[in-house]
Amino acid sequence: MNALELLLERQSNSKLTTPGPTAEQLDIIKQAALRAPDHAALKPWQFILVEGDAREKLGEIYYQAALNNNADDTVLARAKELPLRAPLIIICIAKYKPHDKVPRIEQVQSAGCAVMAMQQAAFAQGLAGVWRTGSYAQDDYVKQALNLAPEDELVGFLYLGSKVNDFKKSRNIDVNDFFTSL
Ligand SMILES: Cc1cc2nc3c(=O)[nH]c(=O)nc-3n(C[C@H](O)[C@H](O)[C@H](O)COP(=O)(O)O)c2cc1C
Repeated sequence: MNALELLLERQSNSKLTTPGPTAEQLDIIKQAALRAPDHAALKPWQFILVEGDAREKLGEIYYQAALNNNADDTVLARAKELPLRAPLIIICIAKYKPHDKVPRIEQVQSAGCAVMAMQQAAFAQGLAGVWRTGSYAQDDYVKQALNLAPEDELVGFLYLGSKVNDFKKSRNIDVNDFFTSL
């Protein structure tokens, strides 16, 4: 796949299965993350890999968060299942570093670019993935259980694996609806 095919054809897949990335594929995915644009070279990133049994640990964290929030039985039951939807989840965090010229939003955007870069690196290698957030990304208990500082931002959970089907999304979208000239 060439670079333009990747840019124009990348899509998310929410239905994922094994196998997850091999060690070599994962290394490329990690390298791609570190090529995210980064104002003042702050490297405001942290990535936590969750695979195998660790996915159950993440489910327990979600479950506890749901309990803390007095969630109903459906939400509680689902909490433990959520991380099992892919063989690998990469939790992407913007580690905010106070800086005169680099406001927080730029650091969060940089971490977001890293998520996109990792998804693209997976897609380019024949893998599939989806960037998810949801209420647990904003939950104080979840952040604390993952050892995040209060000022850090949990930018997303990147679910990665193999696609279940070859469904190709159609894109009926007109660039002129979004681009104007000054
Ligand atoms: C910051 C962010 C958070 C997202 N969170 C979710 C989510 O929690 N659940 C979900 O199904 N899709 C979520 N999405 C959307 C998917 O990642 C994906 O972009 C969307 O399904 C469109 O698919 P596409 O990438 O093939 O265009 C999120 C996207 C972004 C950028």
